[in-house]
Amino acid sequence: MSATERRELLALAREAMRAAYAPYSGFRVGAVLEADDGRRFSGCNVENAASSATMCAERVALGTAVRAGARRFRRLALCASGPRPVSPCGVCRQALSEFGVETRVVSVADGSDGTDGGDVAEWTLEELLPSRFGGRDLGGGNDLRSTGEEA
Ligand code: THU
Repeated sequence: MSATERRELLALAREAMRAAYAPYSGFRVGAVLEADDGRRFSGCNVENAASSATMCAERVALGTAVRAGARRFRRLALCASGPRPVSPCGVCRQALSEFGVETRVVSVADGSDGTDGGDVAEWTLEELLPSRFGGRDLGGGNDLRSTGEEA
């Protein structure tokens, strides 16, 4: 992705991060998922007193995207309030991988706009979750994200 695109996406992720509800950890995360058709969907983490009910920013963005009909994603931008770029947690990797592992993930800590060449991390989802468990393991063999399987 070009430097401009990256800066733009990360700025949106930073904006989403500001909406985080994180009274327990104080750790804010913003995520922007960019669909193959260019639409962008954002999310922030939403914590809960019962910690297992906490939702990560990535899955909040994913839910919004799927609701809007998007199922293929070319980019995921993350901005977090900690000292270093976050990589998506295992549950989010699994959730995102349902819709393909081609997605490029770019991540910065708040304070970096992704252009200084310094604290930016970048991976593909494939790199983050090799040998994933997927729909094919259930014996279907279909590309579930495009089959309208939910009907
Ligand atoms: N969190 C995310 O939203 N995304 C990540 O990639 C890592 C962790 C959230 C969950 C929780 O609200 C807080 O960060 C601390 O774990």
